[in-house]
Amino acid sequence: MDLDKVIRSRKSVREFSRKKPDWRAIVDSVNAARFAPAAGNNFEMKFIVLKNPDKINNVAKSCHQLFVAEAYYVIVAVSDPSRLINEFGEEAGQVYCRQQAGAAIQNILLKAQELGLSTCWVGLFEEHEVKVELKIPDKMQVEAVIPIGYEMKKSKPKNKIPLENVIRFDDFKTKKINDTNKNES
Ligand SMILES: Cc1cc2nc3c(=O)[nH]c(=O)nc-3n(C[C@H](O)[C@H](O)[C@H](O)COP(=O)(O)O)c2cc1C
Repeated sequence: MDLDKVIRSRKSVREFSRKKPDWRAIVDSVNAARFAPAAGNNFEMKFIVLKNPDKINNVAKSCHQLFVAEAYYVIVAVSDPSRLINEFGEEAGQVYCRQQAGAAIQNILLKAQELGLSTCWVGLFEEHEVKVELKIPDKMQVEAVIPIGYEMKKSKPKNKIPLENVIRFDDFKTKKINDTNKNES
């Protein structure tokens, strides 16, 4: 699948079929995370792949979103901000940690999409409960819970905000490109 098609066809799926995904596709999806940009190349993330149904159930309960338990596999993305905080200070380190986790998570979603799998980025969860359930060290942050599988019934991606609502030129207020710009040749 070409990149644009992958980007445009990805959508959040909240109903999964009982068809079991190929394990290698799950591993390939996690592998894509490593190629995301990381501040100072400090990539301090772990991805816990859940296949134990009891664990998946408990994590779904901690998300208060039971659809998570319908997926055969769930990936829990966790990051350790300490190296980034050491290098960039508390505030920037925390921001970079969250931002690069987002980039890594998106890589996983897109790779899964390319491989014909569906996902949902779940950001609402009781972090402490997830940490206890999965034996995640205190210093780590849980970034996302990602159920991954085949969608139950085909659905279309949501309509997205039009390009003209998000793009600006040269400053925040300019909505139209100035094609009489003399700097351009
Ligand atoms: C940081 C973040 C947190 C999210 N948390 C949840 C969540 O807890 N539960 C859920 O069902 N979807 C969650 N989503 C998915 C969004 O609801 C979804 O991306 C949005 O509605 C756009 O739909 P789409 O993904 O199909 O394009 C989250 C997405 C992001 C980026």
